[in-house]
Amino acid sequence: MSGIATIEIDGKKYEFPVTVGTENEVAIDINTLRSATQGVTTLDPGYKNTGSCESAITFLDGEKGILRYRGYAIEELAEKADFLEVAYLLIFGELPTREQLQKFHNDIRDQSIVAEDMKKILDGFPQSAHPMGVLSSLTSALIAFNPSSVNVDSEEDMYKAIVKILGKFPVLTAWTYRKRAGLPLDYGDDTMGYVENFLKMMFKKPQGEYKRNEIVTNSMDKLLILHADHEQNCSTSTVRMVGSSHAGLFASLSAGINALWGPLHGGANQAVIEMLEAIKADGGDTKKYMAKAKDKDDPFRLMGFGHRVYKNFDPRAKIIKKAADEVLSDLGVSDEVLDIAKGLEKEALEDSYFVDRKLYPNVDFYSGIIYRALGIPIEMFTPMFALGRLPGWIAQWREMRLRKEPIGRPRQIYIGETLRAFKDIDYR
Ligand code: CMC
Repeated sequence: MSGIATIEIDGKKYEFPVTVGTENEVAIDINTLRSATQGVTTLDPGYKNTGSCESAITFLDGEKGILRYRGYAIEELAEKADFLEVAYLLIFGELPTREQLQKFHNDIRDQSIVAEDMKKILDGFPQSAHPMGVLSSLTSALIAFNPSSVNVDSEEDMYKAIVKILGKFPVLTAWTYRKRAGLPLDYGDDTMGYVENFLKMMFKKPQGEYKRNEIVTNSMDKLLILHADHEQNCSTSTVRMVGSSHAGLFASLSAGINALWGPLHGGANQAVIEMLEAIKADGGDTKKYMAKAKDKDDPFRLMGFGHRVYKNFDPRAKIIKKAADEVLSDLGVSDEVLDIAKGLEKEALEDSYFVDRKLYPNVDFYSGIIYRALGIPIEMFTPMFALGRLPGWIAQWREMRLRKEPIGRPRQIYIGETLRAFKDIDYR
């Protein structure tokens, strides 16, 4: 691969360096494009061809269906690591030693107290509010309770901010659910692991003990790992973009939560189950919905199918599909919706519309089915995604600040009116 790319505009040639990543991804570095060409820019809606940064956190190869965090295969991490280990790996770059992991966990636990006044903010929301809106607002509100901005030149300051949000976020997530469910808030249990404590804060009934369930805790741990990072997706790019203005960590995360909420992104996990339920209620006729998904005059899309980057099986979907089967059988749950999902998948994989466009099940296609089996209510599916993605957002924000990246500020090609004279209101 030559180290130079040549662009010809109006007969004039311009040369730009070609940069190659450690996994041989190739990019034309157009840093000097505008200055060299006196103002020519690139146009790439949806950034389908644009690398926004260099990053050492997550590698994915959409053609081969590969996903790795810091060089470790997702399959291996999902099997052998726990969520906090993966969080540490993503944020700090290496798997923690036993001591580092213990300290990390202790420090997070010490930061898990949420200011009592935050409850007043929670109280202000209607009970029917979607938990994602509440979660982003509460994350944003944390800024008011922690007003001094993080000094990113201090490793210690960075670390404190990171353990603070990792400590408080599960509490806020669980509280959004309890508010919606009309349950008194729960403060968790210091003696429990990170994920188990989260589940306890979600589900402990006021009048009884929380019953530990290994299958539920382990499955949830695995799901969180699978969601923990996915390089420059919509919400992560949002976190980096907001953070690039030197807005603080909590403000950047709150923006990321809102980006994740959309049904084309993290909100798809809720949309998938709603779609499968609708198909079930409509008699389970998957063919009818396949036809709708292919009809360009029908806005219906097969939720949980397709991905901007994966043009082969989403490796996370493979793991989750297997886990869905295991969890349902371990818990002795049967779910008709799983059969509809499998039927839809089979039909789609044999249908030329989906095959030609390389549309495969994504992470969200089966995750909702497991969440349901684990007792997570549907409106909490996307908050679960946010809880899982939190370490990835933090890692990406930290990397962006440590690399001293410039403020994100794309260009545009203006296609509006050219200069025209102001028309008085009487003549419009
Ligand atoms: N059902 C039917 N047709 C689809 C679907 C779908 N789910 N996804 C893409 N297509 C078609 C699309 O209509 C287009 O067809 P044509 O070329 O004839 O115009 C072609 O496939 C390419 O689609 P696109 O919208 O240009 O692709 P994209 O990269 O912009 O969008 C996507 C990716 C994930 C937004 C899209 O596939 C989609 O809307 N999927 C359903 C929502 C979903 O499951 N989102 C979760 C993504 S994974 C979790 C996460 O990380 O966010």
